[in-house]
Amino acid sequence: MFHHEPPRATAIHHEEPMSRENSRIRISTLDEPGVTLEEMIRDVKAGLSREPKDLSTSPKYLYDAEGSRIFEEITETPEYYQTDAEFSILRQRSEEIVSRTGCRTLVELGSGSSSKTRALLDALLESGGPARYAPLDVSESALEESGEQLASRYPDLDIQGYVGDFDKSLRSLLKSAENGSGGRLVVLLGGTIGNFSPESRRGFLRTLRESMGEGDHLLIGVDLVKPRETLERAYDDAAGATARFNKNLLSVLNHNLEANFDPELFAHRAAYDEPHQRVEMWLDSLEDQEVKLPALGMDVRFEKGEGLRTEISAKFTRESAAGMFEDTAFHMLDLYTDPDELFGLTLAAPKG
Ligand code: SAH
Ligand code: TRP
Repeated sequence: MFHHEPPRATAIHHEEPMSRENSRIRISTLDEPGVTLEEMIRDVKAGLSREPKDLSTSPKYLYDAEGSRIFEEITETPEYYQTDAEFSILRQRSEEIVSRTGCRTLVELGSGSSSKTRALLDALLESGGPARYAPLDVSESALEESGEQLASRYPDLDIQGYVGDFDKSLRSLLKSAENGSGGRLVVLLGGTIGNFSPESRRGFLRTLRESMGEGDHLLIGVDLVKPRETLERAYDDAAGATARFNKNLLSVLNHNLEANFDPELFAHRAAYDEPHQRVEMWLDSLEDQEVKLPALGMDVRFEKGEGLRTEISAKFTRESAAGMFEDTAFHMLDLYTDPDELFGLTLAAPKG
């Protein structure tokens, strides 16, 4: 069959396209595919042409099936405090959040394993009446795995999963998840908001705001500013999971762009940029080298010690979190934290 969709990058496998039953959870694609090869070529070409070389503007390429698996490993390392801290806040506050917002639908962006979300889903179902869950992730493998578990745990929950890119598909996602009865709670966990650049974060929140109505709420997890050592350790665990996650990006480029990066010739580095309040992940070249990227029609030189920035992770204070919402026509209603104030869960509503 002929169609005009550009070929998909294999970072995301689409064995059976479009909607299908998957042990009671439906997974569909939205108008825009999550990743296309064309787009990956454009993003990587632009990123490798920058000075310094920078792929941190497209975090989604970190999450192929292998990357999603390694990310789960990171969340279990003792150094990565975020997952436990955020889960403890959710366990403590989900009931309150559900009753305060009156939501009946949970729309989750970048849902991954959906493990922590269970606290919210439990509260939603306990509050009575029909309830809906619409997770979106660029990683189809993550959606499928979490979907199967959710379907058996929550037989009464209406679950509709979407494979897609939250940078492109917010409008169509929010439209699909429209709900006649009760508001929607749009959820973004895991400190993912910190992985946007400040400009793309504003764009993302403004687009979200335009697609949300009165009665809808936003719940965003933010990692909080803390001492450098704690932050840098969280992004450079002793078991090396984060280093493998970072270097897996090179394998994604090799698979999809026929590139010949040798991950052994790069070193993982995490550094806290205190003035900008963000951790930066880099891959530093261990020697002078030239990498071929035939799909981009370019070769790229790295000098010994030269870095490629692969990800940023912004850290917040109560003030900067509130400012981010005020800037984008939301109002922060609350910031819940864990007893050690490691992590924050912000609840916001559209400004009238
Ligand atoms: N919410 C989970 C996972 C966080 S990791 C948790 O808190 O543990 C970030 C998640 O966002 C991954 O599952 C990744 O696949 C997804 N993701 C990253 N960029 C995305 C994009 N542009 N569109 C949709 N999902 C994206
Ligand atoms: N959202 C996560 C964070 O910023 C993503 C993440 C965790 C990550 N560890 C990483 C991204 C290591 C790149 C490299 O904490």
